[in-house]
Amino acid sequence: MSILFTNIKELVQVRERTNQPLRGHQMDELPSIKNAYLWIEDGRIKDYGSMEDFHSHPAEEVYDCTGKIITPGYVDSHTHLVFAGTREKEFEDRIHGLTYEEVAARGGGILNSAAALENMTEDQLFDQARLRLDQVVAQGTTAIEIKSGYGLSVESELKILRVASRLRKSGTNNHHIIPIKATFLGAHAVPLKFKNDREAYIQLIIQEMLPVIAQEKLADYIDVFCEKNYFTVAEMLRIIEAGSACGLKAKVHVNQFTSLGSIDAAVKAGAVSVDHLEVMESADFDALSGAKTIATALPSCSFFLGLDYAPANEMIDRDIAVALASDYNPGSTPSGNLNFVFSLACIKMKMTPQRAFNALTINAAHALELQDEVGSITKGKRANLMIFKNIESIAAIPYNFGQVVIDRVMVDGRFI
Ligand code: NIG
Ligand code: FE
Repeated sequence: MSILFTNIKELVQVRERTNQPLRGHQMDELPSIKNAYLWIEDGRIKDYGSMEDFHSHPAEEVYDCTGKIITPGYVDSHTHLVFAGTREKEFEDRIHGLTYEEVAARGGGILNSAAALENMTEDQLFDQARLRLDQVVAQGTTAIEIKSGYGLSVESELKILRVASRLRKSGTNNHHIIPIKATFLGAHAVPLKFKNDREAYIQLIIQEMLPVIAQEKLADYIDVFCEKNYFTVAEMLRIIEAGSACGLKAKVHVNQFTSLGSIDAAVKAGAVSVDHLEVMESADFDALSGAKTIATALPSCSFFLGLDYAPANEMIDRDIAVALASDYNPGSTPSGNLNFVFSLACIKMKMTPQRAFNALTINAAHALELQDEVGSITKGKRANLMIFKNIESIAAIPYNFGQVVIDRVMVDGRFI
């Protein structure tokens, strides 16, 4: 099946090679072709270029895209998409003045979500998660990461990862299959029954959960919530080392509330990404500067919890590769809308639309090691696209905050 788009007003994020993430001031450049064509064959990008160089290509479907902008779809490199129930009560408690940490200390937070998840069957979880997947794909997300971490027992952690694995195979309700990477986050919080013996819970993660996950190939990455009252830097290192022995690279939650030195440790341990980064000290910048590890900011979490925003521009000035993701979860970010993340990045973090779009596409693809599949208009990559009509430039996407200005989304050459 081949599809041809002609007369595209602007084809954005066109790159011949994407073998390295964009770092530092490379993020300022967002290459595009005005008055372009794009040719898709069997769900992949076959050719593209300027209409001036266009020689007719055989195609079953031809779309005249006069006035329309086409870009690659977004990549969401950090979500907790599989969860049970919502947490409006805590939301109201925070409106009345409690902090996120205080809510958690009263038994709310992650433990609250884990209790709800324990009572749901795999099928129920799957149905709910699939609806969320449908929704975010309609909002332009065309590759995604899904973490466990609301299980906190062998059975429930496996349940979440099995749901992620089913979503990877079956896709959305309309069977649009987007690339899904799964991350094992058993070390999301210490369950109450291990309160007085946290070492026993770490042993459970390492000895009981990890071997089954590795054996059944249920995860691609390992994650730890490294934070005061959650997991220490030393514990994080032990857990990611155990993950690494099972073939799982690290993507970790760090510096959300406190700078503990976990960024330096994670970079040295070869982490693919360090995520959150609301609280950054100078040693944290030093550790990331010029490193391979990608710095992922989650501005919707800052928005929802009223935290500082990750200092993305300062990181870019320090030659760091920055990505943006949603953090979709019931506690700190009950939204997976990357158009809104785009707005927050520009409005609150003062990222230019060019930097933010690079962070939401090609750098996010690198944060999931999917750079050969998605994240740019490149020959051979999946035809996972967003089509916009009636916008002047991509700056209109963040400008129209709270709205979705996408006209159509395409996954593997098929419109959703
Ligand atoms: O990424 N910070 C840790 N984990 C989630 C929130 C967890 C929750 O409150 O349910 C996050 O923000
Ligand atoms: Fe998270």
